[in-house]
Amino acid sequence: MKDRVVIVTGAAAGIGLATARRFADDGCRVASWDVKDSEAQTGGMFQKVDVTSAASVESAVALVVAEWGGVDVLVNNAGIMRDGKLIKYKDGAIAGMMSDEQFDAVISVNLKGVFTCTRAVVPHMIAGQGGVVLNASSVVGLYGNFGQTNYVATKAGVIGMTKVWARELGKFGIRVNAVAPGFIATDMVRQMPEKILAAGVAHTPLGRMGQPEDVANAYAFLASDQASFITGIVLSVDGGAVTGT
Ligand code: NAI
Repeated sequence: MKDRVVIVTGAAAGIGLATARRFADDGCRVASWDVKDSEAQTGGMFQKVDVTSAASVESAVALVVAEWGGVDVLVNNAGIMRDGKLIKYKDGAIAGMMSDEQFDAVISVNLKGVFTCTRAVVPHMIAGQGGVVLNASSVVGLYGNFGQTNYVATKAGVIGMTKVWARELGKFGIRVNAVAPGFIATDMVRQMPEKILAAGVAHTPLGRMGQPEDVANAYAFLASDQASFITGIVLSVDGGAVTGT
């Protein structure tokens, strides 16, 4: 992987940060993108990028290409949650529902952001005669989850886009795969109620939450030449959770 150019979105924290560090450890030149500032050092470049803004994404890609000559790997990791039930029913009456804002915010980062970043990067991969696009799905994109209409729609949608792009881009030597993490110990998951976390672990055959590095390792494998005949797949990194449902 030495000197390969890797972009990781949502790289200021959690899985994205662990992934940027992992690629840097492998000798890659890593561009870390996030809306949040980051003090974490990965040795590459940090760019303040909002994946919901095509202008922000395109100018960041242009800078990476100007600096390093191309892009070999894009990890579409940035994601948010805005959970709520479709309809909340309490004491015989409707007590709330998921708002348009909740729905649209999650779609625009987790689904449209993946589209925007991939569309901006792929022309450079075609010019460089190959590349790897890796997308963050989730176990819940495979089996659904309470309170996550918006989030699950994006994680299932990402699997669909992964398969379309694997078909469309194979002829350019571009591989496209998704990773479906289970419960991973990051800020995103720490905001969930204790009861839900305990239930998640109870449904995980390996009996623990995953670490960000567990997912980073999967991205590193899928980006490497060891995965050179793998495209269009969804790799579960979930301690077996998907079998426990
Ligand atoms: P996190 O919340 O710890 O980190 C996500 C990062 O994305 C943050 O640094 C945030 O600032 C950044 N971000 C948010 N909106 C952005 C935007 N518009 N543009 C650029 N960056 C933005 O989340 P975590 O847990 O590390 O998750 C990473 C990915 O893995 C997400 O796509 C998430 O849905 C997915 N995932 C996480 C699981 C978990 O258990 N933690 C399970 C399954 C999937």
